[in-house]
Amino acid sequence: MRVAVIGQGYVGLTITVGALSVGHQVTGIDHSPAVVAGLKSGKSHIEGISDSVISKAIASGRFQVTDSYLQSADSDVIVIAVPTPLDAKGSADLSLLTSSAKSLGGVLKSPKLIINESTSYPGTLREVINPLIDGGSGQSHLYAISPERVDPGNKRYGVKNTPRVVGGLSDQARDAAVAFYRSFCDEVIPVSSAEVAEAAKLFENTFRFINIGLVNEFAEIMSAMGIPADEVLKAAGSKPYGFMPFHPNVGIGGHCIPVDPIYLQERAKEFGITSKYIALSEEINHRMPKYVAKRLMDEYGDIKGKKVLVVGIAYKAGISDTRESPAKPFIESLKEFGAEVSWHDPLVPSWDGQSSSSVAGAYDLAVVLVAHSNLSMSGWKGGPIFTTNFNPKYPDWKPLISFQQKS
Ligand SMILES: NC(=O)c1ccc[n+]([C@@H]2O[C@H](COP(=O)([O-])OP(=O)(O)OC[C@H]3O[C@@H](n4cnc5c(N)ncnc54)[C@H](O)[C@@H]3O)[C@@H](O)[C@H]2O)c1
Repeated sequence: MRVAVIGQGYVGLTITVGALSVGHQVTGIDHSPAVVAGLKSGKSHIEGISDSVISKAIASGRFQVTDSYLQSADSDVIVIAVPTPLDAKGSADLSLLTSSAKSLGGVLKSPKLIINESTSYPGTLREVINPLIDGGSGQSHLYAISPERVDPGNKRYGVKNTPRVVGGLSDQARDAAVAFYRSFCDEVIPVSSAEVAEAAKLFENTFRFINIGLVNEFAEIMSAMGIPADEVLKAAGSKPYGFMPFHPNVGIGGHCIPVDPIYLQERAKEFGITSKYIALSEEINHRMPKYVAKRLMDEYGDIKGKKVLVVGIAYKAGISDTRESPAKPFIESLKEFGAEVSWHDPLVPSWDGQSSSSVAGAYDLAVVLVAHSNLSMSGWKGGPIFTTNFNPKYPDWKPLISFQQKS
């Protein structure tokens, strides 16, 4: 098949590689000149996708990269994988998705199978994407949705072995999309409508968001009671059914967990319903950075005027993604309490207008939020090192959220 993938980020490049792996011809379309230039020169910017996979695909002639939507016009299948973030006010921002749909509407001159992989609320494919593309192109296209479940950095589950849900605006569209995904995914699950697929994605991440809120609040309670949350969670996790472990942390980050529940909440409000679970979990998850800063002062003492190094500002270990990272509000809380804050991350050279600092500077203390496997604290001459949860690899770091029972 000739496939065009709009957006060559975490999701788009993953699908591109999946489609290339079974012999499809792929055109990657991205509006970022840096992304286009990097991929053309055989470099991958996504963890878990190697340079050699990209350079071999370019050399084979089966992978083209461009910023021009015109190149999508010859494709059989078009996959949309552009960001659906929150805007500055914290509301759903579909502007990149709508601009992408408008651009497609301007270039498609014959009917195509168009699949959306960008996460959004139920009704987006039917009410937003379809009218923009059909209206612009004067064609009746087939529309399907397959919400992406990629977990960047996950070595066990990738595009091939992660089951994939597919819905369509018609049975014909859904069946065509199912056939496309079956060419490179082991398990494809057709559902009865596009809205079922869209809602399933939002529920998956809302489920995590709420359970993380619950465990964060539980960790606060355990800490106040002087009971080690780690050990309690491990003990509870020994129940073989009806329990799933979640872990407390300094907050939530990334492009999915903090964002998707807000899309569901806003859509629910249009139907006169407010999810109390989402509202409450949002409040708890967002207060964690300040809670951890306060716990730091409980353990260390006043941080006014102290030089603090925050280590690991990506939202999770093993990846360089800093979107919605809780490191930002955590650093703001430390500054509010009077600390002078620098940060270090071996995977993030620059962030928030600053470069990563060396660990070898003159600091009073460090707080490790994320311990990437290549993190090295050698050269550290400062005072105590704190972290969020007890880390068996670094037993000397002092945990601030969940600690292990002293035996
Ligand atoms: N990152 C994840 O782990 C993940 C997992 C599941 C679902 N998703 C969803 O997938 C979608 C894409 O997220 P991502 O993480 O891949 O984003 P990303 O930022 O990694 O990549 C998006 C790419 O799209 C390009 N782009 C943006 N607007 C464009 C436009 N109008 N035309 C062409 N290119 C454009 C950007 O330059 C960027 O390279 C989002 O809806 C997200 O919620 C992400």
